[in-house]
Amino acid sequence: MSSRIAVFGTGYLGATHAACMAELGHEVIGVDVDESKLAKLESGEVPFYEPGLDEVLKRNIANGRLRFSSSYEEAAEFADVYFIGVGTPQKKGEFAADLKYVDAVIETLAPLLRRPAVILGKSTVPVGTAQRLAARAKELAPAGAEVELGWNPEFLREGYAIQDTLHPDRIVLGADSASSERVEQVAREVYAKLLAEGIPFLITDLATSELVKTAANAFLATKISFINAMAEVCEAAGADVATLADAIGHDVRIGRRFLNAGIGFGGGCLPKDIRAFMARAGELGADQALTFLREVDAINMRSRTRMVEVAREAVGGSLLGSRVAVLGAAFKPDSDDVRDSPALNIAGQIQLQGASVSVFDPKAMANSRAIFPTLTYATDIEEACQGADVVLVLTEWKQFRELNPNSISGQVREKRIIDGRNCLDAARWRAAGWEFHGLGRK
Ligand SMILES: NC(=O)c1ccc[n+]([C@@H]2O[C@H](COP(=O)([O-])OP(=O)(O)OC[C@H]3O[C@@H](n4cnc5c(N)ncnc54)[C@H](O)[C@@H]3O)[C@@H](O)[C@H]2O)c1
Repeated sequence: MSSRIAVFGTGYLGATHAACMAELGHEVIGVDVDESKLAKLESGEVPFYEPGLDEVLKRNIANGRLRFSSSYEEAAEFADVYFIGVGTPQKKGEFAADLKYVDAVIETLAPLLRRPAVILGKSTVPVGTAQRLAARAKELAPAGAEVELGWNPEFLREGYAIQDTLHPDRIVLGADSASSERVEQVAREVYAKLLAEGIPFLITDLATSELVKTAANAFLATKISFINAMAEVCEAAGADVATLADAIGHDVRIGRRFLNAGIGFGGGCLPKDIRAFMARAGELGADQALTFLREVDAINMRSRTRMVEVAREAVGGSLLGSRVAVLGAAFKPDSDDVRDSPALNIAGQIQLQGASVSVFDPKAMANSRAIFPTLTYATDIEEACQGADVVLVLTEWKQFRELNPNSISGQVREKRIIDGRNCLDAARWRAAGWEFHGLGRK
């Protein structure tokens, strides 16, 4: 059975969700306030880089199941299920999440709801938000209590967004006890094909569903900062963090994934989500429970500074007047997302210390230029490495991991490389005559 779905917000999450819901056979309208983004999507062009999304988008526009609009009226009229996928960025000068976009969706949409409707929130929000939005939607909607709201947090990873949306590890649904039956029924219809695959479906209250998402991100951030803290100790003790990670990772209780020491996490989710989590815990009087996240955040930011220090030491104690090639700008490979990107942050810090920095990234050049116009951007790896005193690998794109040292030996001034992601084969680079540095490595 197909549902009529509206998705509000067509960014990384919303555009993917809209296209994937159409792929599942539903009729979908994607709604955004950004006309230029909508124009691209309507013409079948994905406004950001996400492997495989353009085909899903084009296919479903062509078969008539997917369209885009800036009109809330049109979406309210058309759909029965309304997903919220707008941004929840960090507030300026505060740790808390800025909920103005989520609020704006409810304030605009709810007064247009004249028939029974189910709103499902996907944005990452502080615990307590959903209950507040549910009450507000009922208050504003002509359909009143017939408008019900559930929370259905999103766990997709950029770079694997299609796979993660169509075959998620689990589906989580929160609803309050009064509306849980209908909300569950609607979610079961929307995700029928996924549930038929046996994907775990966890139904809970609103607060737990909101917390599941923030807890998952807090855990992942902690895992990354844990190994980066171990890297600091390894450096001090003359030990090797990569071997340490392999060895502890064999323990299934620990696991090897997310244990690569390096320049830490960034992007549009983990940093702002752990901060919003701390801020919300403080409001709830549970701030002590999350003080460890302050340390997680501090270790993460220190990983960036340490990388700058390693680069400075490598070129002889001062970056002034040196040439630095930066390979990678996106916060992770297979994405063009540069929000709070460690790579760009490090490139900026190095430039501030007087170096000339040349950056290359396979997909994130336009976004990088927009937020960091003062860096120099190269058209390829070779150009970035021209005359470099040191090459920094800051995003683990496949083409950097597999780079043949000899292919850039002729370009650089000094054969010196620093692996900011512990993603390179040190022996291979050394065998090709390169001076190789890693974080937390011997
Ligand atoms: N990007 C991810 O990998 C990911 C994964 C899981 C959860 N999330 C969460 O999903 C949410 C969205 O993240 P994103 O990365 O897609 O952000 P984004 O900035 O890429 O997209 C947000 C979109 O919402 C639009 N928007 C703003 N106000 C609007 C309004 N009133 N009506 C309609 N559209 C509006 C913006 O124009 C923008 O296109 C956040 O809460 C984020 O934490 C993101």
